[in-house]
Amino acid sequence: MAKRVRNHVNPLSILTEHSFEGFGNDRPMFVDVGACKGEFAAELLAKFPDHNFLLFEIRRPLAEALRQKFADDSNVAVFDGDAGRNFRAILEPCLKQGATIKQIFINFPDPWFKEKHKKRRFVNATFLQKLSEWLPESTEFVFQTDQESLFHETLEVVQESPFDQIEKFHTSVHGIPTHWERQKLLEKAPIWRMKFRAKTGLPRDRS
Ligand SMILES: C[S@@+](CC[C@H](N)C(=O)[O-])C[C@H]1O[C@@H](n2cnc3c(N)ncnc32)[C@H](O)[C@@H]1O
Repeated sequence: MAKRVRNHVNPLSILTEHSFEGFGNDRPMFVDVGACKGEFAAELLAKFPDHNFLLFEIRRPLAEALRQKFADDSNVAVFDGDAGRNFRAILEPCLKQGATIKQIFINFPDPWFKEKHKKRRFVNATFLQKLSEWLPESTEFVFQTDQESLFHETLEVVQESPFDQIEKFHTSVHGIPTHWERQKLLEKAPIWRMKFRAKTGLPRDRS
């Protein structure tokens, strides 16, 4: 029987924790949060074959398919579970090996519209505050969505966070539309996009 892949998984209910020894080199990294079937990551990998890729996907069957898809690519690592819960444990070893993070993609994240579910959103105030304590200042996030209310609410959260250097943009990042984005472009739906990073010069806890 085909495996059932749930549409939305509450990230707060998935307690899986991973560790990672890093890639063992200092190549720049791309991070894809919610990589789904990996179409975007595969095109990015073809364009930047000398970069490392960290892919997070909460739905385990999809994460397993991603592992198989990228089995021959030693510069791609896939993690199931909630990206937020595992972010520091996975990224920090890479940073300690001298790697830089080129971009963190949050492409078409689950919107969690209901007020009581908003704390499930990947980009939330508490998470950004915690990130600002260890993530290098130069790290750039790319956030894309077809949900206008999610975009504006996230923009407000980001504006009030240490990551308040914000730039809106209008075309597919690196010229690569994601799988979800392709569907939305076909439907002629508007897409909302921003990049954000921290102001430089904030005190950091690098312990
Ligand atoms: C709407 S889909 C977008 C997929 C892809 N990024 C794209 O643009 O085509 C959202 C994806 O994020 C995954 N996801 C949602 N919350 C997550 C979390 N906390 N950690 C990791 N993956 C998550 C979902 O399982 C799903 O594959």
